[in-house]
Amino acid sequence: MDQSARKFVITYTLTLMCIAIIITIFEVTLIWQVFITLTCLSTVIITTPTKKLPVKDKAVLITGCDRGIGHVLAKQLDRKGFYVFAGCLKNRGQGSKDLVDGSSSRLQTLQLDVSKLTQVKSALHTVEQQLHSKGIQLWGIVNNAGICYIGNVEIMTEEDIQKIMTINYTGPVNICKHFLPLLRRSRGRLVNVASNAGLAPIPLMGAYCASKSALVTISEVWRYELKMWGIKVATIIPSGYKTGIMSYDMIATGNRWWNKASPIVKKDYGQECFYIKFKQKNRDFFLSAEFSDICYKIEDALLSSKPKSRYYSGFLAEFIPFIYIYLPVWLSDYLLSVLANWFEFNPKMQNY
Ligand SMILES: NC(=O)c1ccc[n+]([C@@H]2O[C@H](COP(=O)([O-])OP(=O)(O)OC[C@H]3O[C@@H](n4cnc5c(N)ncnc54)[C@H](OP(=O)(O)O)[C@@H]3O)[C@@H](O)[C@H]2O)c1
Repeated sequence: MDQSARKFVITYTLTLMCIAIIITIFEVTLIWQVFITLTCLSTVIITTPTKKLPVKDKAVLITGCDRGIGHVLAKQLDRKGFYVFAGCLKNRGQGSKDLVDGSSSRLQTLQLDVSKLTQVKSALHTVEQQLHSKGIQLWGIVNNAGICYIGNVEIMTEEDIQKIMTINYTGPVNICKHFLPLLRRSRGRLVNVASNAGLAPIPLMGAYCASKSALVTISEVWRYELKMWGIKVATIIPSGYKTGIMSYDMIATGNRWWNKASPIVKKDYGQECFYIKFKQKNRDFFLSAEFSDICYKIEDALLSSKPKSRYYSGFLAEFIPFIYIYLPVWLSDYLLSVLANWFEFNPKMQNY
């Protein structure tokens, strides 16, 4: 029994039990019995998994497969029977090698830096050739590649602020500009991996938040624009996965920023603030190394007959945006100062 079927059976059983308990304990009148039963069953129907389309002869392009979510997803979709084109930032690296060694011959890795148009064009050329020779169509694109640096925009260099935007937002735009004609022909699926940081502010992740907000917005726009071609678009909102995204070389990055910072910024912040770390207790508490939920949701976005427009996955993915959007400012400011206070950050000039 797969995860969705198991979830359905559990939800259905629990619902029936709850109805029975409420009716027995409270001896409710017939009209209430009907109301409670209908409410509970409609909830079950809404959460019931939809029909899955067959995988046979479907190809999918995933970006950022060297490690992390993209890497695990590429292997999972290969096991399911997809033809996977796994874009890797370093196609001769260990991640790419692991993918080839651990997958079927249907999976093919590609050199693909999403910020470099020459590589996007060359990947398109390879994919078109492969599709043609195998007689299959490109069914899905998963824009997964992304980077994050921790720091505020006063501390970071202009180049690194720009780099975050270029990879996280311009990258998916580059991919779509080149690959959408293939999806138009298959009436396939576009899946964009954004972040809860694109829906709510996370202190010290401003550049990343802005890039993911841009991605969330263009993803929604594509959802409307591409409907006329039969292409369905889903935005994935992950949060709290223990991947490589925060394990960049913080010392080299901090040194780079420190060397380019203005004297007044150096004086006000102090050098410590250029090497911002996750508070260890937060790292242990907030991050999970188990990727099955997010991979399952991306698979659903690719194969469900009625995919959702947005999928949330991981600790706090839905909760942080909910707090930010729906609660009164005094309360959301307080809760976010507790829930999104993830990093060690103690500027020298403390009288602010
Ligand atoms: N982890 C989370 O909790 C979380 C939360 C919200 C959103 N996300 C999003 O989920 C996606 C996957 O991230 P992850 O957590 O799996 O991080 P990850 O482990 O760092 O994986 C990101 C992948 O993207 C690759 N990449 C970096 N720059 C690239 C470029 N210019 N072109 C193509 N590929 C590039 C990286 O290559 P290298 O390995 O060579 O660096 C890596 O393989 C990202 O879009 C991220 O923003 C993750």
